Amino acid sequence: MNFAEIRVDFPILNNLIYMDSASTSLTPEPVLNVVLKYYREYNANVKRGVHRLSQVASQKYKDAHRKVADFISANEEEVIFTKNTTEAINTVASGLKWKTGDKVVTTLLEHHSNFLPWLRLKRLGVDLDIVKPDKNRIFDVSDFEEKIDDRTRLVAVTHISNVLGTVSPIREISAICKKKNALLLVDGAQSVPHIHINVKELGCDFLCFSGHKMLGPPGTGVLWMKEDFFDELEPLTFGGGMIDDVFFDSYKLTSGYERFEGGTPNIVGGIGLGRAVDYLKEIGMGEIRGYEKRLTKRLIEGLLDIENVYVYGSTNLNERIGVVSFNINGLNPHDVALMFDEASNIMVRSGHLCCIPLMKYFGLKEGAVRVSLYLYNTEEEVDTFLDTVKKIAKC
Ligand SMILES: Cc1ncc(COP(=O)(O)O)c(C=O)c1O
Repeated sequence: MNFAEIRVDFPILNNLIYMDSASTSLTPEPVLNVVLKYYREYNANVKRGVHRLSQVASQKYKDAHRKVADFISANEEEVIFTKNTTEAINTVASGLKWKTGDKVVTTLLEHHSNFLPWLRLKRLGVDLDIVKPDKNRIFDVSDFEEKIDDRTRLVAVTHISNVLGTVSPIREISAICKKKNALLLVDGAQSVPHIHINVKELGCDFLCFSGHKMLGPPGTGVLWMKEDFFDELEPLTFGGGMIDDVFFDSYKLTSGYERFEGGTPNIVGGIGLGRAVDYLKEIGMGEIRGYEKRLTKRLIEGLLDIENVYVYGSTNLNERIGVVSFNINGLNPHDVALMFDEASNIMVRSGHLCCIPLMKYFGLKEGAVRVSLYLYNTEEEVDTFLDTVKKIAKC
């Protein structure tokens, strides 16, 4: 596979180097085309009308669920479209029926989206325990084993840290959860776009991810859960499109994913996400992982070679992806990000990266600079990036 060839699908790259894909990814032409096609040819609401346009839109929206389900080896009815990972996680946090004394275990590695929903539950009398990273700054299994107990109802962990790029041992975590009879929610926002995921093998009960980080349109995300939870979990929103029947004093929710998608959904976003997963599948997730590994190796080895640069997270390529945070001695991360833009048209993220508790734990008051790679980046771009780091680190 020649990855340079796919760059024609991303014309925005003609003028700049985009290394902020962990925040949101770029959108390829085939995804834009299906989005335009919806507006031009069959712009209609779904699951409401009997007219031709509505039938076409409903079918395409349903097809998109099937495509996303296939992408993670799930059943179509178990894939719920949300607006992002945050909404997916909140659906679980708000939807489970909690009782005083229940406990949630999460970690310091979490993005705020997988932290605040659990902090909020404290108001309902739910206890929260937080696993700290080990000395190598990765998921600490022994600390986790100490924190999880018989009261633990749910464990919420990120699959890949959006700060360190390191992979959590989900199967090991899952085995421990099963022994303790605890549910497992996996935040896949940084994993699903980059590594092949099979929910049947992962061993979790809930998987949440964002379509806009995997070439899909903004405002798209996914909550996957086993159908067994459908009756146990209250939807986040109630309204049109989610019921089988309504009475004067009650209602009967419908059986499929629609019960969690009350109101008119992001139809065109969902259809765009369906095309995005087709795009990723056509290239192959294995190919993408291999290519990104090569780029990450070049990036990390280059960074480690530069004086005054401090890289966070494991350098073992088998336990990380191309999301790399670093600092340049004595420089504010936001200033560094601005220098990248001004000096070399390179877009990187900076600051607390929506992980304030982790930054505090690491003692990084101003946070860090984060470079994140995806399938459209090249070795030449990595070299330009490294040259720019060298210049900034010298000044
Ligand atoms: C690990 C992780 N979880 C959750 C989120 C939240 O994603 P969204 O803003 O799409 O809800 C992000 C976004 O960067 C993330 O990296």
